[in-house]
Amino acid sequence: MRTKIVAGNWKMNKNLDEAMELAVELQEHQSDFPSDVQVIIAPPAIYLANLEMIDEPCYQLSAQNCSHHDYGAFTGEISPAQLRHMGIKYCILGHSERRQYFHETDELIASKVDACLRNEISPIFCCGEMLEERKANTHFVTVLHQLEKALFHLDKKDMSKVIVAYEPVWAIGTGVTASSNEAQEMHAFIRETLRNHFGVEVAEQVKILYGGSVNAGNSAELFSNPDVDGGLVGGASLKARDFISIIKSAAMPSQIED
Ligand code: 13P
Repeated sequence: MRTKIVAGNWKMNKNLDEAMELAVELQEHQSDFPSDVQVIIAPPAIYLANLEMIDEPCYQLSAQNCSHHDYGAFTGEISPAQLRHMGIKYCILGHSERRQYFHETDELIASKVDACLRNEISPIFCCGEMLEERKANTHFVTVLHQLEKALFHLDKKDMSKVIVAYEPVWAIGTGVTASSNEAQEMHAFIRETLRNHFGVEVAEQVKILYGGSVNAGNSAELFSNPDVDGGLVGGASLKARDFISIIKSAAMPSQIED
């Protein structure tokens, strides 16, 4: 049985005071968190060190992006080797905002996946189709290509360290969530694709998160699907109360008290 992950992608939001306030608020409510849910937060990189200072944090930290190089003359980049040295265990890669606004290609994302894995950082690899692709019924082909190009070169051991996040672009920041059926259908497709390429053991192990307008009102239903192993939450992760509700909604049914 795969346990659930709820990850918050803060994107380029919050000043330092606000970031610390949100982290402290999460800390204060950590006794409400179900014990079987893993919480990850991905703050802006400049706050990673501050958030790491919090004593016995209720979350693990993720970067939102990194370079495909370990060190060197790459002004403005964030090194996966430096992240590793700080104890960061996760890094979001291939987010649609990076594909769209920073022109990241599948090839570049594949090399970032490699850079993370050689530095013992688990990629949270994002994939997902644009609205036109969904309308043209080519969404499975799009996601298949994204998986093939960024992940199929990995061996089984490395693939089992990857977290996949299905984030349909039309659902990101729009308030339009994929229906529970649409999410499950794509997650089952991703798992089947992984099974065909990497075998059943890896496919059963890899966690597949849903992202795109997840909120406190829709998370329980989305997360109840057999192939949805939690969520990658944007806007709703910026408010402690909403994010905590989403974390609570990811509990296994046996953990829910009332
Ligand atoms: P929203 O939850 O704001 O739609 O963002 C989703 C996302 O992009 C998480 O990575």
